[in-house]
Amino acid sequence: MATDLLTITDLHVSVDDKPILRGVNLRMQRGETHALMGPNGSGKSTLGLALMGHPKYVVTQGAIELNGVDLLAMEADARARAGIFMAFQRPVAIPGVKMADFLRHATTNVRFPDRKEGEQLIPMKDFRKELRAKMDHLRMDVEFARRYVNDGFSGGEMKRAEILQMAMLQPKFAILDETDSGLDADAVRLASESIAEIGRNNMGLLIITHHDKLLEHNPPDFTHVMLGGRIVETGGVELAAELYSQGYDRIRRTYPEAEAENRAMLDHDEPQLSAVERE
Ligand SMILES: Nc1ncnc2c1ncn2[C@@H]1O[C@H](COP(=O)(O)OP(=O)(O)OP(=O)(O)O)[C@@H](O)[C@H]1O
Ligand SMILES: [Mg+2]
Repeated sequence: MATDLLTITDLHVSVDDKPILRGVNLRMQRGETHALMGPNGSGKSTLGLALMGHPKYVVTQGAIELNGVDLLAMEADARARAGIFMAFQRPVAIPGVKMADFLRHATTNVRFPDRKEGEQLIPMKDFRKELRAKMDHLRMDVEFARRYVNDGFSGGEMKRAEILQMAMLQPKFAILDETDSGLDADAVRLASESIAEIGRNNMGLLIITHHDKLLEHNPPDFTHVMLGGRIVETGGVELAAELYSQGYDRIRRTYPEAEAENRAMLDHDEPQLSAVERE
């Protein structure tokens, strides 16, 4: 059976002319769960933002394709309509725009990709019914939909708003950037369950996380470790468990070149010390 396929080939990305990603290769099929791990500043969020077409993240080399179609040639909104979704590490607030209105627009745009601006939205009655059902399912208060997008949301509320958005949009591929950060233990469990329910079997999930709790209900088929702007190792679920319990010491020792680049990115304004001098 044919399935949707997202391929990233030799991807190089710069921000303000500073190279961040240095040749990332990744292949994801719909229905697979991938965990993306790696120390702070290794380039994980950069990969997500480049996939979404954030204008600050400039692709200098390589390709991103969805079913063989060049995603790099598309604007960010066209990528969303093609079925790519990202839950951001730091979502932006949109004061004055209510969650429900935002979701109605976004859902209409994704479901009817050929719709012209200003044309009919999904009828209010149908949309309300669906939104309410999804919110019930996620154990969210309906009041939440009346609030302005991310405006004054707690860390946990922001993350849940992103999960609700994913539930409504039903993308082909979802990138979840630290959807667990700032959540208490119960909320992480709920998020992990919700993601599994929404995503199971019908989405390609790329879960960026520093912990293993979000993976509890989403055991990764593949775990990728990023260091210094490239994926240095890929394994299965056992690799995520190892990194969570033992940290990145083994990875840093095994890939000294990538480790040096990771350090250089982190403190670009400081004089560089060797690993020995730092210890
Ligand atoms: N908009 C930006 N402006 C300047 N530097 C940036 C920008 N985005 C990313 N970088 C730099 O690129 C490197 C990689 O950052 P990125 O956010 O991708 O790391 P990460 O792996 O997501 O880290 P974390 O685990 O801390 O979230 C860092 O050195 C960061 O400072
Ligand atoms: Mg990040």
